[in-house]
Amino acid sequence: MQKRTIEWRNGKVVTIDQTRLPHETVFLELESCDEVAEAIKTMKIRGAPLLGAAAAYALALTAYHLKAKKREELINELEKAAETIRKTRPTAVNLFWAIGRILAKAKNNPEDPKTLRIFVLQEAQKIANEDAAANHLIGKYGAVLINDGDVILTHCNAGALATVDYGTALGVIRVAWEQGKKIRVIATETRPKLQGARLTTYELKQSGIPVTLIVDSAVGYLMHKRLISKVIVGADRIVRDAVINKIGTFTIAILAKEHDVPFYVAAPKSTFDLAHTSKNVIIEERKPEEITHIGSQRIAPEGIEVFNPAFDITPLEYVTAIICESGILYKEDFSKLKASSGFK
Ligand code: MRU
Repeated sequence: MQKRTIEWRNGKVVTIDQTRLPHETVFLELESCDEVAEAIKTMKIRGAPLLGAAAAYALALTAYHLKAKKREELINELEKAAETIRKTRPTAVNLFWAIGRILAKAKNNPEDPKTLRIFVLQEAQKIANEDAAANHLIGKYGAVLINDGDVILTHCNAGALATVDYGTALGVIRVAWEQGKKIRVIATETRPKLQGARLTTYELKQSGIPVTLIVDSAVGYLMHKRLISKVIVGADRIVRDAVINKIGTFTIAILAKEHDVPFYVAAPKSTFDLAHTSKNVIIEERKPEEITHIGSQRIAPEGIEVFNPAFDITPLEYVTAIICESGILYKEDFSKLKASSGFK
């Protein structure tokens, strides 16, 4: 039985097709880097930490199936595979970070291709294991911030499905729930891909954690009515001045600040990109059909102009604290993020 969202099994990468959830649980068996790239582009695989693990495994697939005689040949093929994966989605830094780690592992080891193949796979497994461990620690540290009776709003899906295991924002919620705190979750539907409606509600329901689904535009009303005590979201990239996460996150952060509601971000250190500021980040723009259509049904007039950014930028002044596997970074610690590029 599959224990994690992504697993290596006998030369294949096995993962859940997230576009089919919650109606069907369909497992994909991916056998090449191109197949992983396609699954990422079409969002069968999604969520920043999972993208990191998938990128690492994509390179491991290349190494595993290539019967290279020379070390140089293997390194060349890994470079090509890295380029294919880099072109899939531009915003989540975990994908680029994992590729960097695998390439460094391969290049820094002057071994024969046979041994290098093993090293590459071992490094990919290590990346996946570290993500699972980080999420459990994030959950443990973050649960301290959660009180009995809290109603916690989350956006998009930062659960087990977005990671190798357990989840970041949902990991915090899970630990608090397991500690016996009587909490409730408000999940935004997260237009246009509906990760909140389809995936977050599904995960929480499976874990028996009470969850209420709302439309994205209801957040202001619920805040005004004092129906939300905390916000916890994940992140696709944390730069020196901001958190980049699913489109709509910044709107929620502004509303939280206006209503004195704590706004927490839960993310592993593989999501930190402290060499850059928000100016350097490419915000992915996705195809118009995600907005003009619901399923195959057109809802907007033909030829209408569409702008569909998938992520937004929340300046750090809107963030109460960032929870990572090393602990909780409060506002006063953010200057350390700004001053350093070596936090990792
Ligand atoms: O477009 P997606 O579904 O890949 O976006 C996912 C998010 O924005 C998540 O909040 C983020 O990756 C953190 S997941 C732990």
